[in-house]
Amino acid sequence: MAYCFLLFLFFSSIISTHTHACNQTDRSSLLSFTLTLSSLPLNWTSDNCCHWKGITCDQDGRVTQLLLPYKGLKGGMFPSSLANLTHLTHLNLSHNSLYGSLETQFFVSLNRLRILDLSYNLLSGELPLSLPSNNIQKLDLSSNHFFGAIPSSFFHQASNLISFNVSNNTFTGYVPSSICLHASPFLRVLDFSSNEFSGNLAPGLGYCSELKVFQAGHNNLSGLLPEDIYNATKLEEIALPLNSLYGAISDKIVNLTNLAILDLYFNQLSGALPVNLGRLSKLKFVIFDFNNLEGSLPISLMNCTNLLELHLGSNNLEGDISMLDFSRLSQLTKLDLRVNNFTGTIPVSLYSCRSLKAIGLSGNHLEGEIQTEILSLKSLSFLSLGYNRFTNATGAMKILMSCKSLHTLSLAGTFEGEGMPSDDDMVDFDGFKNLRLLSLADSDLTGQIPLWLSKLKNLEILALYNNQITGPIPSWLGTLPRLFSLNLASNRISGEIPKQLCRLPRLVYEPTASQVDNYEFELPIFGGSGTANPRFEPHKLFLFFPAIDLSNNNISGDIPTEVGQLQLLRKLNLDSNNFSGVIPDQISNLKNLELLNLSKNHLSGTIPLSLVSLTFLKQFNVSYNNLQGPIPTGTQLQSFNASAFEGNPKLCGAPLANKCSRPNKGIDEDNKKNNKDMDNGLHQIPWFYISSVVLGFIVGFWGVCGSLIINKTWRYAYFRFIYNIQDRLYVMITVRINMMKRKP
Ligand SMILES: *[C@@H]1O[C@H](CO)[C@@H](O)[C@H](O)[C@H]1NC(C)=O
Ligand SMILES: *[C@@H]1O[C@H](CO)[C@@H](O)[C@H](O)[C@H]1NC(C)=O
Ligand SMILES: *[C@@H]1O[C@H](CO)[C@@H](O)[C@H](O)[C@H]1NC(C)=O
Ligand SMILES: *[C@@H]1O[C@H](CO)[C@@H](O)[C@H](O)[C@H]1NC(C)=O
Ligand SMILES: *[C@@H]1O[C@H](CO)[C@@H](O)[C@H](O)[C@H]1NC(C)=O
Ligand SMILES: *[C@@H]1O[C@H](CO)[C@@H](O)[C@H](O)[C@H]1NC(C)=O
Ligand SMILES: *[C@@H]1O[C@H](CO)[C@@H](O)[C@H](O)[C@H]1NC(C)=O
Ligand SMILES: *[C@@H]1O[C@H](CO)[C@@H](O)[C@H](O)[C@H]1NC(C)=O
Ligand SMILES: *[C@@H]1O[C@H](CO)[C@@H](O)[C@H](O)[C@H]1NC(C)=O
Ligand SMILES: *[C@@H]1O[C@H](CO)[C@@H](O)[C@H](O)[C@H]1NC(C)=O
Ligand SMILES: *[C@@H]1O[C@H](CO)[C@@H](O)[C@H](O)[C@H]1NC(C)=O
Ligand SMILES: *[C@@H]1O[C@H](CO)[C@@H](O)[C@H](O)[C@H]1NC(C)=O
Repeated sequence: MAYCFLLFLFFSSIISTHTHACNQTDRSSLLSFTLTLSSLPLNWTSDNCCHWKGITCDQDGRVTQLLLPYKGLKGGMFPSSLANLTHLTHLNLSHNSLYGSLETQFFVSLNRLRILDLSYNLLSGELPLSLPSNNIQKLDLSSNHFFGAIPSSFFHQASNLISFNVSNNTFTGYVPSSICLHASPFLRVLDFSSNEFSGNLAPGLGYCSELKVFQAGHNNLSGLLPEDIYNATKLEEIALPLNSLYGAISDKIVNLTNLAILDLYFNQLSGALPVNLGRLSKLKFVIFDFNNLEGSLPISLMNCTNLLELHLGSNNLEGDISMLDFSRLSQLTKLDLRVNNFTGTIPVSLYSCRSLKAIGLSGNHLEGEIQTEILSLKSLSFLSLGYNRFTNATGAMKILMSCKSLHTLSLAGTFEGEGMPSDDDMVDFDGFKNLRLLSLADSDLTGQIPLWLSKLKNLEILALYNNQITGPIPSWLGTLPRLFSLNLASNRISGEIPKQLCRLPRLVYEPTASQVDNYEFELPIFGGSGTANPRFEPHKLFLFFPAIDLSNNNISGDIPTEVGQLQLLRKLNLDSNNFSGVIPDQISNLKNLELLNLSKNHLSGTIPLSLVSLTFLKQFNVSYNNLQGPIPTGTQLQSFNASAFEGNPKLCGAPLANKCSRPNKGIDEDNKKNNKDMDNGLHQIPWFYISSVVLGFIVGFWGVCGSLIINKTWRYAYFRFIYNIQDRLYVMITVRINMMKRKP
């Protein structure tokens, strides 16, 4: 029995080696390939390389496929070692860390290659003069570090090419539109995006009769859209955003009847939108923000029943939109018409687009009131209507608070001069359950900060700046569990900072992993004006980092010492108020602080030495107060302009021109008081003592700022040392060396 079994094994092994035994040349090529890698073992040990992971052979035992994506391969010079695998048809080494360049030799020998995917590696250098063979169908070199121009000869053999992706490299020169003159009639996908291609798009694309996807966004292309692009009637996607294309979009675009994606945002396109654009019934994404388009919205667009997103923000479009009939756009999820010159009221038909998630109409000349029909948009989560001429803020809030999905509500710069919707108006308030951002800024709204805001348990960002708000800062603001950005600047708020505000949970406690969500706004948010550059203003708004801005009000009293609890705060702006007292030492607990502005108040005392531990501080201003004494020396405080300190006559030292006179007033006098008792007893012989005791271990030496003080009657010297203990704790040691008592 056992004998039979062994015999079976013997024969089956003979059979299998005869059918699948791998070619020893190929085997040694593969092994020499692994030798160039410094990564985890691929476990390629058995004799028959056709059984190795990632390898496929043909009947002759020649390796035809080598598929090793996401294998953590690290190494260089791989092409030469693979050049002997001459029967290879599929090579996929994407998502590894291979470096080196593509050598012509490699391409020439692999003349059966059909699929080559080297994307997401560290490959560099210029492309070889020509593609390996006319067999190649898919070539993906994207997300590497290739550079240089693509040689015009590169596509001479590309008679079977279907897909070519070189996006996310640093290629320069022209986009090789001539590809269509040489390339196969099968070419369907071209992706040149995110490189440094420049110049005009030369004609040629019209010859790509099967082309479906053409992407060359985020380059430096200029000029007009080539006329013959409208001959490539199979096109489903044209994406050329973030370039410098100009001129009008031709009416001929209606010939591209398969077009679903037209993405041309951030160019310099001008003229009117083609009247018949809406004949392109397959359109799903129309993205034209940040151009110079003029004229009105083509009525034909209202026929595009497949439209998912329509982005026309930041153009010069105009016309009354009240009468447009949106009712057939039942798939529409995003409508962005912000920063144009549209007039009229919000078209009622818009409320029948039940899929709408985001509406951006801010920055136009729209008028009228928000109507209850808006509540039929059950998915609406982003609504930006600011900088228009809408009226009835109270009515708007009473309606919108029932919008269950609303996350982002921006109504800044409209409702000019009305009263802040007050608690009397909102008696039965029960709404805005999911609101995360609320802006009622820039509207000269009068009244106080209303109590109904305290029920917005999900509110993260509250912007009420540039209004006429009076009364105090309510203490309940500090109880909003998710609030991390509060802007009350430029109002007429009075009273003191409530201590409770210093307990805002999101500014006090490091959020747990489950609390951190990478929420993206449905539409990009940009600051008030249309001059913003979308290249740097993505969906996640960097402006909204943890911040408290109370500047330009009438707030008085001390800056509470509790402010030190807001350790996650990155921006604290208290300028132009009536604050008095000293700068609390506890501000130095705000280790994440990047901006600290205390200017134009009545603060007195010295600048706390502990502020030097605020290592992230980029903007600092204490000008126009009554501060005195020396600016702590040898610290980053010296790196700020003198203007950050000016207007404090008794403040001295760099960067102010005002030199500190000896003896040092301020700090020195304090020290003198403290040390007086000891001085009285022990002043006969030279001696020294350490006036501060260092607790724990001193880890790492951080800095010395020695201030040599020669007193009139005593000759002694202070040396101050600042020690950094485990990154966060700083201890100042003052060493005082008494020389001897002078003879009077
Ligand atoms: C292995 O491949 C080489 C070409 O690289 C060829 O010359 C040789 O005959 C092949 N060996 C076998 C056993 O097929
Ligand atoms: C190689 O084999 C070892 C042990 O069997 C295993 O831990 C490792 O994951 C294998 N490596 C690969 C790339 O499959
Ligand atoms: C490739 O083949 C040539 C000739 O057959 C041989 O000299 C060379 O060593 C081989 N290279 C590798 C990496 O196996
Ligand atoms: C290469 O492999 C990755 C990962 O499996 C896959 O996503 C990609 O489509 C493959 N490339 C080609 C051209 O098939
Ligand atoms: C090209 O490759 C990139 C990855 O580097 C990918 O994101 C992109 O979708 C690809 N382009 C096309 C048209 O498939
Ligand atoms: C671009 O390539 C880099 C590596 O060169 C990669 O880290 C990054 O994710 C790529 N970007 C995209 C959008 O694919
Ligand atoms: C584009 O089409 C027009 C009209 O059909 C034709 O005259 C022109 O030659 C075509 N251009 C290309 C590049 O195919
Ligand atoms: C972009 O192209 C213009 C000319 O069209 C050139 O002056 C400019 O230097 C280019 N910018 C980059 C970053 O290549
Ligand atoms: C557009 O299509 C019409 C009819 O389908 C045709 O007469 C015209 O030549 C086409 N224009 C271009 C530029 O291909
Ligand atoms: C919209 O489509 C209808 C029929 O589908 C057609 O009668 C009408 O002319 C089209 N409107 C525009 C402006 O293209
Ligand atoms: C709106 O129109 C006025 C003139 O009516 C013009 O001055 C202004 O620049 C236009 N604004 C935009 C954003 O087009
Ligand atoms: C404001 O809107 C509310 C609700 O739509 C309405 O009841 C009220 O009359 C309006 N007020 C004014 C002054 O128009």
